[in-house]
Order: sequence, then C-alpha cells, then structure tokens
Amino acid sequence: MPRDNIMKVIVFLLMAISGCGKTDHISLWDRHCGACHDGQTILNGKVVMDKEQMKVKYKTYEEFADACSHSPSCMNIMKHEKKLFADVGKEIGIKESPK
Ligand code: HEC
Repeated sequence: MPRDNIMKVIVFLLMAISGCGKTDHISLWDRHCGACHDGQTILNGKVVMDKEQMKVKYKTYEEFADACSHSPSCMNIMKHEKKLFADVGKEIGIKESPK
C-alpha cells in the first residue's frame, strides 16, 4: 500500500531530523578544525592543509599535539589547546606513539 510507505518515509525523516541538532553528533574535527582545514580555504595566501595531509605529516598524535606550540605559523587560538589537539588527532586516526 503506498500510504504505508509514505508513513515509513515520514517516520524516517522525523528520526533523521531529531538526531540532527545535537552537537555531540558533530565530530571535534568538524566543530573546531574543518572550517579552515578543508583543503580549500586560503589563509595568508596558502591553501590550509586538510585532514589527510595532516595524517601524512604527523605520524603520532603527540607530534600532532605539539605541532601548534612549536610552529609560528599555527593558529594563535590553538596554541594552548594541546588536549584538544590530542583528542582531534585520535579522532582523525593519527596513531599514539608506541612507548
Ligand atoms: C580559523 C581557521 C583555522 C582553524 C579553525 C584551525 N586552523 Fe589549523 N591552521 C590554520 C592556519 C591559517 C594555519 C597555518 C597554515 C600555514 O601557514 O601553512 C594552520 C596550521 C595548522 C597546523 C600546522 C602547524 C605547522 O606549521 O606544522 C596544524 C597541525 C593545525 N593547523 C591543526 C589544527 C587543528 C587540529 C584545528 C582544530 C582543533 C585547527 N588547526 C583549527 C587555520 C585554522
């Protein structure tokens, strides 16, 4: 029956919409980094590197977490956000260094 199908679609849409506004469904990367580091944004005359390039450049997330405190070119607002960096690094798949 077509009417049944319409109901299914409506129920599905309602579930999709209700899950949407919650911030905990947005990854840390998307919330804090993706806006600039999307591989398209140009700042200071350069294309800001994206997630994949970071994974290539930083082998471990300790390295990644340190990246900003040691780099003059890094975003000032992030200089004291090592914890956030470590979390983002883990999230995008940068490995923890073996110790
Ligand atoms: C407002 C825009 C913006 C946001 C938001 C932002 N960045 Fe950046 N990021 C930059 C710019 C600009 C640079 C410097 C690029 C350059 O000079 O090559 C940079 C550089 C970096 C570097 C490279 C440092 C180096 O020189 O090796 C890393 C790593 C980095 N960002 C990680 C992050 C992470 C992780 C987040 C989210 C927690 C983030 N960024 C959020 C704009 C941003």
